[in-house]
Amino acid sequence: MSYAEHNCRFSVAPMLDWTDRHYRYFARLLSRNTLLYTEMVTTGAIIHGRGDFLEYNQQEHPVALQLGGSNPSELAHCAKLASERGYDEINLNVGCPSDRVQNGRFGACLMAEPELVAECVDAMKSVVDLPVTVKTRIGIDEQDSYEFLTRFIDIVSAAGCQDFTIHARKAWLSGLSPKENREIPPLDYDRAYQIKRDYPQLTIAVNGGIKTIEECQGHLQHLDGVMVGREAYQNPYLLASVDSEIYGDSTPTVDRRAVVEAMVPYVERHLANGGRVNHVTRHMLGLFNGLPGARNWRRTLSEKAHLKDAQPQLLLEAMAHVGEPKELELN
Ligand SMILES: Cc1cc2nc3c(=O)[nH]c(=O)nc-3n(C[C@H](O)[C@H](O)[C@H](O)COP(=O)(O)O)c2cc1C
Repeated sequence: MSYAEHNCRFSVAPMLDWTDRHYRYFARLLSRNTLLYTEMVTTGAIIHGRGDFLEYNQQEHPVALQLGGSNPSELAHCAKLASERGYDEINLNVGCPSDRVQNGRFGACLMAEPELVAECVDAMKSVVDLPVTVKTRIGIDEQDSYEFLTRFIDIVSAAGCQDFTIHARKAWLSGLSPKENREIPPLDYDRAYQIKRDYPQLTIAVNGGIKTIEECQGHLQHLDGVMVGREAYQNPYLLASVDSEIYGDSTPTVDRRAVVEAMVPYVERHLANGGRVNHVTRHMLGLFNGLPGARNWRRTLSEKAHLKDAQPQLLLEAMAHVGEPKELELN
């Protein structure tokens, strides 16, 4: 099985401010196979920004860097840096509709410029051996015909992109906020299925509105992969079933308590490097969702983790309010 066929079966979507390296470390404890995407990192940030925008923990693999940009040589430069740092895949964002992104002429508005996207893919592919993939929508504004999408796929795949993730709704480039653009345009999974039927040689994953493992399995009847965003963040324990249910691994499902305990030394290291407890724990608030006591867990972390003297053991204190998750699951 190729890299893409294996890794794209289940991934967590790139999400700004959410899928940072702390979330990804936590997510990796829940699933060994899930492909994790970084937040979108712009070429401008990597080239001109202060700080290391490519930092990640080695435990995160497989991990894909999502780049935002549309200048082929800048993208190639950043892809090369990412490859040297050991990322497993480079993904180009052709799906984000925010104004800020449009001003930079990247994100979803690039759907209207498939030739430029092809140049970007070609430039990146010529300097790295990694898969260069594209995350896109099914259309933008009035340009939402199936032919518009196939023209995009034709031109971009001809430049060497073999793997596409399709967020199965279009984006309105003006009038809707990014949040509304994730909710208002209707989902059309059939469009993505049709792409897979018409381009069987490409690896196609679908994204948008997927909430359960059963839904994932349904999509996998038609496609190579599923990408889950909000649900994987708000209800992270979903990831604990992925290895067995999606990848057929026989390893036992990890329990929540073990994950929390494993996060304590991670938070200790983060503190030793000058970080705060809540940088990490803010991504863990949904871990006990659906179980009695989940609200206490969430409240303890929300009220105390940002305090200056908060310690990693706060995680254990918060968990004490939840009781034995294993017992509770049986109720
Ligand atoms: C907080 C947030 C930030 C996001 N940031 C990005 C991003 O950086 N790059 C990107 O391609 N999509 C981004 N998205 C869109 C998601 O990747 C995904 O396409 C969208 O949420 C639909 O999938 P879902 O219904 O499973 O959440 C973001 C979504 C959310 C909720």
